[in-house]
Amino acid sequence: MTVLALLGILAAGTAGAIYWAMNWSASARARKLVNPLPPNPRDIAAGMQLYRDHCQKCHGPNGDGKGEKAAELFVAPRDFGDAREMRAWTDGELFWSITKGHRPMPAFADKLTETERWQAVDYIRTFAQNPAPPAAAPANGLTSP
Ligand code: HEC
Repeated sequence: MTVLALLGILAAGTAGAIYWAMNWSASARARKLVNPLPPNPRDIAAGMQLYRDHCQKCHGPNGDGKGEKAAELFVAPRDFGDAREMRAWTDGELFWSITKGHRPMPAFADKLTETERWQAVDYIRTFAQNPAPPAAAPANGLTSP
C-alpha cells in the first residue's frame, strides 16, 4: 500500500467523521429551532394546499401514512394523527425532516421555500388536534345566538 493510498483513507475517514458530527449537531440544533410562522388560518390553509400537492400521495389525506403510494415504500410514514407521538417532535425537527428528507422520503429543500416548509409543519400539526367538540346545547339552558 502506498503512502498516498493511506493518506486517502485517512482523509476519507476524517471527512466522514466531520460529516457525521455536522449532521448530528444539525439535528440537535433543529430540535430547538423556533417556528417563525406560528399556526394561523392563512398559513395552515397554504400548508394544506401544498400537502395535497407534494405529500398526500405518501402520507395520506388524513395524515395517517396511508397514501396511495405508501404500500410501495419500504418504510411506512408515521401517523401524524397520533398526538402522543407528535408531542415528542418539535416543530424544528419536523421542519428539518421535510428539508432534508429521509429515504424513501425526498428532500424538499429545493422544492419548497422555507416559508412553505413551515406552512407544511403548521398543517401537519392539525392532524393530531382533537376534533371540534360536537355542538351541544349549553349547560346553562340558554340558547346560543
Ligand atoms: C415518497 C413518499 C413521501 C413523500 C412524497 C413525502 N413523505 Fe414524508 N415521509 C415519508 C416516509 C416513508 C417517512 C418516514 C421516514 C423514516 O422514518 O425513515 C416520512 C417522514 C416524514 C416526516 C418525519 C417524521 C417521521 O416519521 O420520521 C415528516 C415531518 C414528513 N415526512 C413530512 C412530509 C411532508 C410535509 C411532505 C410533503 C412536503 C412529505 N413528507 C412528503 C414518505 C414521504
